[in-house]
Amino acid sequence: SDHLLSTKGFTRDRGVALLDVAEDMADTQNRQVKKLPTLRGTTIVNLFFEDSTRTRISFEAAAKRLSADVITFSAKGSSVSKGESLQDTAQTLQAMGADGIVIRHSSSGAAHVLATSGWTRAGIVNAGDGTHEHPTQALLDAFTIRKRRHGDDSRGRDLEGVCVVIVGDILHSRVARSNIWLLTALGASVHLVAPPTLLPTHTEGWPVTTGIDLDEAVDGGPDVVMMLRVQRERMTEAFFPTAKEYATLYGLSVARADRLPASSLVMHPGPMNRGLEIAGAVADSPRSTVLEQVQNGIGVRMAVLYDVLAGERAA
Ligand code: CP
Repeated sequence: SDHLLSTKGFTRDRGVALLDVAEDMADTQNRQVKKLPTLRGTTIVNLFFEDSTRTRISFEAAAKRLSADVITFSAKGSSVSKGESLQDTAQTLQAMGADGIVIRHSSSGAAHVLATSGWTRAGIVNAGDGTHEHPTQALLDAFTIRKRRHGDDSRGRDLEGVCVVIVGDILHSRVARSNIWLLTALGASVHLVAPPTLLPTHTEGWPVTTGIDLDEAVDGGPDVVMMLRVQRERMTEAFFPTAKEYATLYGLSVARADRLPASSLVMHPGPMNRGLEIAGAVADSPRSTVLEQVQNGIGVRMAVLYDVLAGERAA
């Protein structure tokens, strides 16, 4: 088995090839073919130590559409609450014959540990590890940008020349990290905007520009504005201004969105804090891709499961 742990190190060609497989998978859905036989006889375990709506459900839908057997495991209600370790949990799943494990965990590096520990021979897919990476989110975001720009003519294309502004709680965002690596590998430029307390101090090695002024970034006319959720569960009060201050300085209000070019997209990975980082009316506007991102997530995750478990690299 292979693994998908990170988008760091992705080449342009690998990114484009995976997005192209996702196009084929999405096409299959549209043609009302309910199931592909590709992963028949394969057992996939969704191992979720952290809460999720979109990622867990879309991995389940993706695996089922590829005819895999799916077991969904939530730490809540499992023996993890009795203190069972990741090692014993993984070895238990190995004994039950898991071929693939999709893991979400609050510790950065948990997916990597599972992939390199020898506790399991399963293919590992990182569904979000702490503040580190969320590679399938970045893939579905890139897919969504490409689809909005090129429609049915998307195959083979990268994101050369696309200007993406990522706004908000960069410090705690695995979505931002995976997008930085993938979007730049595909040729996009990435600008980060955050309050100084929510911008990591070590962005020097990242292929990005940074700033603290959202109005300046909006007036630059970016192609994409990606708003991030303020992750209060990962913060102490010291990080956080008041909600009103945050919304005023860093929220995508209707007035700010109205200053964007008509073609600019507004993205958000969800779950959203409406009225905090994004106004409800902006999230529900035609330039918002929030629900397309969710929809595209299924085809993208089918492509990832195929890539990791069917033993045929997309590129
Ligand atoms: N975007 C995302 O990862 O959402 P969930 O936490 O609901 O899976």
